[in-house]
Amino acid sequence: MKTFDNAILITGGAGFIGSHVVRLFVNKYPDTLIINLDKLTYAGNLENLTDIEDKKNYLFVKGDIMDEKLVISLFEQHPVTGVIHLAAESHVDRSITNPLEFIGTNVIGTVTLLNACRDHWKNNFKGKCFYQISTDEVYGSLGPEGYFTEDTPYDPQSPYSASKAGADHFVRAYGNTYNLPFLITNCSNNYGPNQFPEKLIPLTINNILHNRLIPVYGKGENIRDWLYVVDHARAIDLVYHKGDKGETYNIGGNNEWKNINLVYQLCDITDKLLGRAAGTSHKLITFVKDRAGHDLRYAIDSSKIRNTLGWMPETSFEEGLTKTIQWYLDHQDWLHHVLTGEYEKYYEQQYLKR
Ligand code: NAD
Ligand code: TYD
Repeated sequence: MKTFDNAILITGGAGFIGSHVVRLFVNKYPDTLIINLDKLTYAGNLENLTDIEDKKNYLFVKGDIMDEKLVISLFEQHPVTGVIHLAAESHVDRSITNPLEFIGTNVIGTVTLLNACRDHWKNNFKGKCFYQISTDEVYGSLGPEGYFTEDTPYDPQSPYSASKAGADHFVRAYGNTYNLPFLITNCSNNYGPNQFPEKLIPLTINNILHNRLIPVYGKGENIRDWLYVVDHARAIDLVYHKGDKGETYNIGGNNEWKNINLVYQLCDITDKLLGRAAGTSHKLITFVKDRAGHDLRYAIDSSKIRNTLGWMPETSFEEGLTKTIQWYLDHQDWLHHVLTGEYEKYYEQQYLKR
């Protein structure tokens, strides 16, 4: 068995963004052990990682980030010098139904990891780092003008964003109180392969495929700034290796879309890829009751990471959407596996009983 001098603990690596980060790190850093700690909730899926699961520098551990004993044991067993923390409850609509679950994983889970880093690394913080993967949603909601910068005050508006904001505050507090080296990035909406079909883009693609109505909240006028997930994974790699400790970097696609225009675009590309007549799926679009407290607009000013670290998104929106839709069309077995009875129950609760 190969032994390693260095290990990175990635949490939530079986989820959407985490799986792209794990893949990138396992392939790019063969001399570093990449430990993926994931509880495999409804959103976690080891099918996302079958291409790297046999690599010598990859170790999957099924477990909860709130399990203090387990987290400490990972630090005792492996030379962990960095944590890249993605594990989270991540869906705003679920946070509206069940906020406590979000406080558990997103706040208590984060503090459990921070304690392990502080206690295990104490006296020797050199070369160590706790990297918190956060969201632009902690900044609240924008009007039609302006952008979120790293100096925008936190103003979270949903239980999800409040729990992520709480976690970010703890990370900074551990930096200030215990000198724990940290990094935080706040990223805009991601899309791409492996995203669970409860979020707007994969839900729309799945519904088009199954001739199901496409639920658009309110008037579809809310705006999101979309980034291809592989570009986010590249940014995480860059920040982890080159970012200044104690700094925050905003990551975004500079790619704002009104939901309704995005949904039309998804219909058109999917119909084309399926060889259907143009406009076929438009009839599925249905305006439904708005999300409670629905943030109007998110838009990121990512000039800091662009200017200081030289990061840029590489995937245009049209290319990224086409790749994403094609991926879902080619992986209907993946969709079939994740759309369990639990998903149907959630779907009924969220969309059919309102
Ligand atoms: P996801 O819901 O697809 O995946 C989350 C993963 O965390 C799953 O594999 C799940 O099994 C795991 N997990 C959940 N609770 C856990 C626990 N208690 N212990 C261990 N593992 C647990 O989420 P995602 O969209 O990939 O988001 C990943 C991170 O990036 C989150 O922290 C999220 O806040 C942040 N983020 C997401 C977006 C986005 O657009 N998706 C944008 C910015 C930031
Ligand atoms: P989502 O993918 O849940 O991401 P977030 O809320 O974190 O930005 O939603 C993206 C946008 O799409 C958001 O404005 C809510 C809207 N939306 C719908 O209109 N219909 C849906 O079924 C979903 C899931 C989202």
